[in-house]
Amino acid sequence: RIDGRFAAALLHWYDRHARALPWRVAPADLRAGIRPDPYRVWMSEIMLQQTTVAAVKSYFATFTERWPTVEALAAADDAEVMGAWAGLGYYARARNLLACARVVAGERGGCFPETAAQLRSLPGVGDYTSAAVAAIAFDEPAAVVDGNIERIATRIACIETPLPAARKPIRALVQELTPQTRPGDFAQAMMDLGATICTPRKPACVLCPVTDHCEARRQGRQEAFPVKAAK
Ligand code: ADE
Repeated sequence: RIDGRFAAALLHWYDRHARALPWRVAPADLRAGIRPDPYRVWMSEIMLQQTTVAAVKSYFATFTERWPTVEALAAADDAEVMGAWAGLGYYARARNLLACARVVAGERGGCFPETAAQLRSLPGVGDYTSAAVAAIAFDEPAAVVDGNIERIATRIACIETPLPAARKPIRALVQELTPQTRPGDFAQAMMDLGATICTPRKPACVLCPVTDHCEARRQGRQEAFPVKAAK
């Protein structure tokens, strides 16, 4: 039952229910031809890696107001950037943020690379961030997999293998589900689904746009996934 209908159902839901977030371009605006700014997409994805949406919002506003372009950030004083980051935690992210901005501004004329493979070589940009930026900013149908999306995938297909061994089949499934058109909206729809409906406990399956595609739900076992490794 896994085919283009999963993406179609999820995107239809996202068109109506996408969370309005400061780094997002709404589906209707994308349709009107507005392009996301890769700098803002990259910045948001770095900040969101180990931090909640609620906590990131004010930091994202501060950073993008103080340093509206990658060139501005690249020219910033290190201590000022580290000071602005205070409270977000995981300070290696802030050091990599500056290092990455200086590579993009200094060696690439301020243009971010446009493929996941090339993005992956930038400081602080791993599998998750490279795929997210490529999908959201450049429409590459890259498999975007974070913790929430892992949970969704294990439920959709009843992946019984515990993490971390499940990572390979999860990635393969997410790649298979990712549509060639609107891959960035698809990834962000998965994030919204994981945050608001396909939650770790008591998922709201009655509200889920892809409940018909979910094997765990069919079996009434949605809370059994992802399977925890035995200690
Ligand atoms: N978490 C990580 N990236 C996100 C995004 N683009 N939208 C919402 N939540 C996210």
